[in-house]
Amino acid sequence: MPTPCTSHPSAGLTGTSRVPGDKSVSHRAIMLGAVAMGETVIEGLLESADVIRTIQAMAALGARVERHADASWHVTGRGVGGFVQPEGTIDFGNSGTGARLAAGLVCTTPIKVIFTGDESLSKRPMERIITPLTQFGARFDTAPGGRLPMRIQGAAEPVPVEYALPVPSAQVKSAVLLAGLNAPGETTVIETAASRDHTERMLAAFGADIRQERSAQGTRITVRGGRELAACAITVAGDPSSAAFPLAAALICPDSQVTVENVLLNPTRTGLIETLHDMGANIRILNPRNSGGEVIGDLQAEASQLRGVLVPARRAPSMIDEYPILAALAAFAEGTTRMEGLAELRVKECDRLAAMEAGLKACGVPVRSGEDWMEVEGSGAVRGGAQIATHMDHRIAMSFLVLGLAAREPVGIDDSAMIATSFPGFAGLMEKLGARITGAREGA
Ligand code: S3P
Repeated sequence: MPTPCTSHPSAGLTGTSRVPGDKSVSHRAIMLGAVAMGETVIEGLLESADVIRTIQAMAALGARVERHADASWHVTGRGVGGFVQPEGTIDFGNSGTGARLAAGLVCTTPIKVIFTGDESLSKRPMERIITPLTQFGARFDTAPGGRLPMRIQGAAEPVPVEYALPVPSAQVKSAVLLAGLNAPGETTVIETAASRDHTERMLAAFGADIRQERSAQGTRITVRGGRELAACAITVAGDPSSAAFPLAAALICPDSQVTVENVLLNPTRTGLIETLHDMGANIRILNPRNSGGEVIGDLQAEASQLRGVLVPARRAPSMIDEYPILAALAAFAEGTTRMEGLAELRVKECDRLAAMEAGLKACGVPVRSGEDWMEVEGSGAVRGGAQIATHMDHRIAMSFLVLGLAAREPVGIDDSAMIATSFPGFAGLMEKLGARITGAREGA
């Protein structure tokens, strides 16, 4: 049953909080732990619906995954190529990252698996990973259009692959690198636009032989396969894509000042901060520090008069999940915000470009769009007063709830359940800061 929920005009958001662990890092920590030798200990893991699916998937493939009383997670791996034949299908729920990275991980082990997902994930393209993973020697069968359910027959004698990414996707890059772990020799991915590099960093932390080189075609990332990974300790910092919501709320609700501590500030993830600075936002990075091979810091945002800007296509990979909340913020900016290079938004948990356009228009905000761009006509005052279709997309849900906090009239969303895929506790955290949100599903 869907759980509708509403946000109401709010002011004076104040306080300091922490958001749950980074989703991308959490998936990878569980997966690499599952193929490493020994026990990987993870602190700060995101305990959200998406990550729980990945935990269940790795357990079905034979890894031991346990939560200890101190909230640390312990993964005892099976070694590279050590997965066992699972019973039944493996359900990845709403998670494209889970399904695509796990496909890479299993496709060079001679087992048969069937991946399924929820209604949203079953509409998302898998062809983008099937094309390179087939080159390792794996076989794939899918529903029409390269969609889930997807049957994978892992390669018995995998061969290494060199693959130039046709789309700037960290999921595709990671799927190929993970497949390469169990292929003899060197597997190389070539990327022209830098997407998030958590797989590369974490593989190095697990002792993999991985290197990067600049070349005329782009950055070449090479991993040597057929070697064991060594379990390690991982601390997951707060997810910048989650921190974006309370910080955005502080920027548009009058008299607000909010600090989010302990946020991952990996440079492949900070495009939103750059854009917000361009927009004149009063947002600061406090106490930048190094932790476990990543830069982390505290982010502080204050109510600000924003101005419309041009967000160039080259910035898209570093803020790909932040366009929904940026579009909501742009509605409150003075002037037009134009966002370019948005083609990938069409294949996220929903068609985010279409969902943002429809929702903003319903709230009285003028929007224009094309195949891969969007323009939002900002004004100091946004009417709101609409019921938004979230299309099973957590970030559409949270973006419109934030918009409703600063609009003149409340904004409702059709379902708050999906928020728990990435940001369990979102509504409670926002309420503690002073936001008025009613009706949210328990856990959202
Ligand atoms: C992710 C990569 C991005 C992002 C997703 C998480 C990852 O997807 O949108 O939320 O963890 O690798 P794409 O690789 O499709 O761009």
